[in-house]
Amino acid sequence: MKAAYYQEYGPPELIEFVQIDRPKVEDNQVLIKIKATTVNRTDCGIRSGAYLIMKMITGLKAPRKKIPGTDFSGVIEELGSSVSKFKVGDKVFGFHDEGIESQAEYLALDADQTHHMPHGLSFEEATACLEGAHYALNFIRKVDLKAGQKVLVYGSTGAIGSAVVQLLKYEGLHVTAVCDTDNVEKIKGLNPDRVIDYKVTDYWKEDIIYDYVFDAVGKSSFSQSKPVLSKKGVYISSELGKNWENIYLSIFTPFLGGKRVKFPFPKNITKTVEHMSKLINQGKFRPLIDRSFPFEEIVEAYSYVEKGFKTGNVILKIQ
Ligand SMILES: NC(=O)c1ccc[n+]([C@@H]2O[C@H](COP(=O)([O-])OP(=O)(O)OC[C@H]3O[C@@H](n4cnc5c(N)ncnc54)[C@H](OP(=O)(O)O)[C@@H]3O)[C@@H](O)[C@H]2O)c1
Repeated sequence: MKAAYYQEYGPPELIEFVQIDRPKVEDNQVLIKIKATTVNRTDCGIRSGAYLIMKMITGLKAPRKKIPGTDFSGVIEELGSSVSKFKVGDKVFGFHDEGIESQAEYLALDADQTHHMPHGLSFEEATACLEGAHYALNFIRKVDLKAGQKVLVYGSTGAIGSAVVQLLKYEGLHVTAVCDTDNVEKIKGLNPDRVIDYKVTDYWKEDIIYDYVFDAVGKSSFSQSKPVLSKKGVYISSELGKNWENIYLSIFTPFLGGKRVKFPFPKNITKTVEHMSKLINQGKFRPLIDRSFPFEEIVEAYSYVEKGFKTGNVILKIQ
């Protein structure tokens, strides 16, 4: 089979293609013919080796897993002897933030990490409902949301941001989405209550108070957001912040009794997949897709994502 492959951490250009044997399934695994994956910021983080904290899991000196990829959609081709949850031909999808080597024509994966694809989605759409949505859901599960509360979502255009906006609307919150002029119409399509164009308006200078500020691109800060947070308002960011400030602020601000920072460590992927499948089946979630690249253009896809200006998800069409 054809697989993307990289032997050392570094830029996208280190990815090459190799022909290797199809993986063999163990008793508890399924063999999946991959149709699509996304190229997402988690893939970029793993491949670049830029984060020491990530390398403690993926390999300190070199990547333990040589094939990139954290999510997929595809079709079951073969079943391990103890797998009864699936049959050959089932459409499936899945995600794991430590990497599952899905950017290849075939993937052998534990049945526990494989999920039935919701109905009515293309393979491209299905794989785009996972990575951003997982972090988005972990954002909103970190606080005790109540319908009607006001939330500002900074970076509503990203994979995480576009999912946060839709998940919050589902929970009945009043959502203000912040994005660039070029993306205002696209973001209005996600049905937030209000859209702010950050080229025109600085949200922190407005006279509007929010219960939560969720920064889904890590480009704002707690101190910047404080003036528009309510007395016990919460700030959450997808990034560690300057000098990892979002970590230590999340430790001591709760003791001060006022505005606070929370930092979500994403967990429980199965719960995310179940929740997203429910929303998709109810027609309450549709992933935002920027563009698709053929498998052969994987280097271009990674380079594009690393520019930091994709809107929603970038798809890699494998077969
Ligand atoms: N904590 C975690 O575990 C975790 C996991 C994955 C990713 N992340 C981080 O989360 C962030 C978002 O990931 P993602 O995949 O959702 O992002 P993304 O899709 O790469 O986000 C791109 C969007 O960010 C917006 N943006 C870029 N610069 C901006 C700025 N200065 N101010 C406001 N908006 C800006 C752009 O929209 P406009 O053109 O509208 O500005 C662009 O559409 C990344 O920083 C990533 O490293 C964290």
